[in-house]
Amino acid sequence: MISRAPVPIARIAGTGRFLPPRVLTNAELEAMVETSDEWIRTRTGITERRVAEGEMGAAVMGAGAAEAALANAGLTASDIDVVLVSTATPDRLLPSTACDVQALIGANRAFAYDFATACSGFPYGLAMATGHIAAGQAENVLVICTEKMSSIVDWSDRTTCVLFGDGAGAAVVSRATGESGILSSFMRSDGTLAELLYRPAGGARIPIDIAVLDEKNHFIKMAGPEVFKNAVRSMCDAAEEALRRAGVTSEEIDLLVPHQANIRIIESTAKYASIPMEKVFVNVDKYGNMSSASVPVALDEAREQGRVGEGSLVLMVAFGAGLTWAANVVRL
Ligand code: ACO
Repeated sequence: MISRAPVPIARIAGTGRFLPPRVLTNAELEAMVETSDEWIRTRTGITERRVAEGEMGAAVMGAGAAEAALANAGLTASDIDVVLVSTATPDRLLPSTACDVQALIGANRAFAYDFATACSGFPYGLAMATGHIAAGQAENVLVICTEKMSSIVDWSDRTTCVLFGDGAGAAVVSRATGESGILSSFMRSDGTLAELLYRPAGGARIPIDIAVLDEKNHFIKMAGPEVFKNAVRSMCDAAEEALRRAGVTSEEIDLLVPHQANIRIIESTAKYASIPMEKVFVNVDKYGNMSSASVPVALDEAREQGRVGEGSLVLMVAFGAGLTWAANVVRL
């Protein structure tokens, strides 16, 4: 049985976000597919989302979030030892988006790599950063989650295109020196459920060709109601296990920062985790589902709005394609 590390190894030293300026409203979507503002708001809680236009991609957005997080931590890019990038929408398949971000921000002492755990990227990234620090490979790690979901969505498919948005969030994770820190991490995946949420083609097995384009198999496909059920179950399990490993109860949590996919999933998760909605951060209305960027953007906004501060106990929990799910308990 894995239990709590007596003293935290790593802490969140700063957070930042980047949101592309273009706002796409539900009213605009009504003109694109057969949907309505009312359907989208009642089924998902989303009223608008951001879209990265033109060549603005994962690296540029990720670099924007990283620079904001560095400024918030009072560090510069040359203080960074590792650049970790979570993205389901890399700018190119080779090399990694992390290397592109490294070049953009000038993290000239770092090593950089991408990882692919979809929407669960931030809690996974905090755990990986902790591992690098524990292993003596790093003092300061950038965990960046950056997603251009608009580039993999079929804009003629109303069952998916209304759900997603673009953006990036980041955290600087540094060696802990006191009680503040990442108290626990929990991660899990189930590859047997991969095809509930996936892009059938565009990788090595089925590269893009005319047939793929005709059948739109390079776009995201999702079994929405199945994903919904798994999301609630997995996020509750992850929350419970992260709390247990940290040795804290849900009553002690100051703020739950869940993955922002759908307000109904958030409300169900909070209910099962026995956390009242006043202690849950929600911004899915403004941004939709930004995949892995959701949790760090929400955490950054929560800190900026004073919903949490030094000493606050935060539970972060996420769920995504893979399927993957993960959670952390963090003392800010
Ligand atoms: N506008 C209007 N009607 C729609 C739309 C739309 N945008 N989309 C679907 N419908 C219709 C369907 O066609 C269906 O019509 P029918 O009854 O005539 O067949 C009806 O609405 C109900 O469809 P359901 O899919 O059953 O609707 P549901 O209440 O389950 O809501 C939703 C769909 C919002 C996708 C929900 O299942 C959900 O949120 N699932 C989880 C999605 C998610 O979180 N994905 C991401 C998680 S992982 C990651 O972030 C990568």
